[in-house]
Amino acid sequence: MRGIGLVVAILAGLVGAPLALAEEGYVPGLGDIMTTIQMRHIKLWFAGKSKNWELASYELERIRQSLEDAATLYSGIPAEYVGATVGPIQDIDAAVKDKNGTEFVKAYGALTGACNACHQAIGRGFIAIQTPSASPFTDQSFTPPKR
Ligand code: HEC
Repeated sequence: MRGIGLVVAILAGLVGAPLALAEEGYVPGLGDIMTTIQMRHIKLWFAGKSKNWELASYELERIRQSLEDAATLYSGIPAEYVGATVGPIQDIDAAVKDKNGTEFVKAYGALTGACNACHQAIGRGFIAIQTPSASPFTDQSFTPPKR
């Protein structure tokens, strides 16, 4: 448990404070949290590729928050593999702040690797995450807004 607490503390300090505390009482299933992470993993990619850095930062923070939720609500998931996402998330954060597309792609690959490392470690290697090839979100534009 201490391991999880530490990881959560590290994750919490990373990208900034959440806008609001989670609603009490409702506990989302782990698979549901993961499906949400998957959606944001896709959006993060297209935001970064489109150089919509504000959106990329937003999606990254949501991913960080969901991983924190998963670690807090489901203490059975291995803390070290949650912890292994911290470095790649920090690197994506730095790439986004620097508006550096090359570093973004590199760090995104490392995060995807950290997703799969945990899935493999918990016997769910059949859930294999990859860089998305096309956005399923046809109702959302990823290009930065014109100012
Ligand atoms: C620390 C461990 C861990 C990390 C890191 C992790 N996952 Fe998972 N993931 C799980 C577990 C555990 C499940 C299985 C949940 C279940 O069966 O209820 C899962 C399931 C999933 C699923 C299947 C959900 C479904 O219902 O189809 C997807 C998609 C997924 N993860 C995406 C991701 C992505 C994307 C990342 C990285 C950004 C990631 N996961 C990082 C532990 C992890």
